[in-house]
Amino acid sequence: MVRKNRRPRFPEDYIKNKAEEYNSSKWMERNQKRSTLSSIEYLFDENLYYREDSRDKRGDSQVILDLGCGTGFSSEILIENGFRVIGIDILNDMLSKAREKKKNFKTSKGLELILADINYLPIKVDSVNQIISISSYNFIIYGKENDGEKVKLLHDTAKYLNKILKINGRIIIEFYPKDDTELKMFNNSFTNNGFEGFMVKHNPMQKSGQTFLLLKKKV
Ligand SMILES: C[S@@+](CC[C@H](N)C(=O)[O-])C[C@H]1O[C@@H](n2cnc3c(N)ncnc32)[C@H](O)[C@@H]1O
Repeated sequence: MVRKNRRPRFPEDYIKNKAEEYNSSKWMERNQKRSTLSSIEYLFDENLYYREDSRDKRGDSQVILDLGCGTGFSSEILIENGFRVIGIDILNDMLSKAREKKKNFKTSKGLELILADINYLPIKVDSVNQIISISSYNFIIYGKENDGEKVKLLHDTAKYLNKILKINGRIIIEFYPKDDTELKMFNNSFTNNGFEGFMVKHNPMQKSGQTFLLLKKKV
């Protein structure tokens, strides 16, 4: 059974029978889909806009990258909202479930699934309109021993995300930093690499709880 009240462990909670447990958990599906819907709202948050941006482009066949797409709960919502989705995940046990489900999606043509690491993306420069990551981005520093290594990895990844995003592109990261220090580390990686924006916590009293980073590419 999916454990509801503890931080998930990577990769243990997403491999073999745990991938199946994850995928068949109604609670998980509801949470992932809810966070994805909030993130779509944030993508179009008016505080993130330049005056000249169009405000009603919702989906509209834009290419969106779903970083750490898992078994495809978020990707499904993105497709239903009109995006063309590229889902990236590092674990085949998770991605293969997304591949299975894709067959039953209403518009499966709009979804491409790629087995890859967020830190080494096989995506061309200047090729995506938006980026989203739901409950995955905190795992990208997995295996890094010290803060120096973590900072370097986060820096390099944010820098490349900036390169692949088209002008006016935005990123919404919904994640669970372990504490304030880690939150700052993630946030700085973006603000030091050509992004600006702000952070939203649905429960501001929670130091390590659910956090949304709302970011746009600086012009
Ligand atoms: C909570 S799950 C997926 C959530 C996803 N939003 C969904 O709808 O199912 C987190 C995912 O992040 C993926 N992940 C962790 N580190 C990654 C990395 N470095 N590159 C790509 N995916 C990664 C895991 O394999 C896992 O599938």
